[in-house]
Amino acid sequence: MRAAVFDSGVGGLTVVKSLIEHRFFDEIIYFGDTARVPYGTKDKNTIVRYSLEALEFFKNFDPDLLIAACNSVSAHALEELRESATFPVVGVIEPGVLAAKERLEGHEPILVIGTKATISSGQYEELLRQEGFCNLTFQATPLFVPLVEEGILTGPIVQATMDHYFHNLPHPKGIILGCTHFPLLQEALTSYFGPETILIHSGEAICDYLHQALAIEPTNRQPELKLFASESPEKLKRVAREWLRYSSR
Ligand code: DGL
Repeated sequence: MRAAVFDSGVGGLTVVKSLIEHRFFDEIIYFGDTARVPYGTKDKNTIVRYSLEALEFFKNFDPDLLIAACNSVSAHALEELRESATFPVVGVIEPGVLAAKERLEGHEPILVIGTKATISSGQYEELLRQEGFCNLTFQATPLFVPLVEEGILTGPIVQATMDHYFHNLPHPKGIILGCTHFPLLQEALTSYFGPETILIHSGEAICDYLHQALAIEPTNRQPELKLFASESPEKLKRVAREWLRYSSR
């Protein structure tokens, strides 16, 4: 099977990492719109337009499935992608909510963090409430995106940024990492909130979803990874080598 994975930039490689580990696909075609990242600060119309342009690129590869790894795309452009694609399109929000349902009780406090576009879409809130979660806090944390892009994953700047966003919030039992970049801050988040706080990661959530909801089985073969970017593909390949320890075409 051939999967197409779309993200606004390099962050979706956190989802690719989980896909590689689970070995669901023979081939993974990744496109990061690095020339136009971030999407999380853009409005719906722009995110939809960029996403439909990416879809045109993916059509050349005739994928079996498109994974919108970007939460901002999943929040704003999933319907439009599905209307225009000739193959199934899955986003990361529903899988994230289903993963929360598996690991947390409805009354337990959940914090959802993401870009401004993702949080303001209300998509996580709608789906979490449908699943019976009632103790919800939402916080846009856009400064985490450039920190991760800069490779600043721990230390005083990360600590100060977390204080800035979290100092007034109720202590969560679970945190949904509603942005591709945030799994790289897992260590910092765990040391801030404590080891008992459950972190829900889009990459792991989508792998559970592919297996449970779409009945996709592991192949036991290493997938071939092909990386494309709208700007500086060499940077994407370098980040992939660092984050995934995986070589690509
Ligand atoms: N990939 C984006 C997301 O998951 C984060 C970066 C951006 O703002 O484009 O929402």
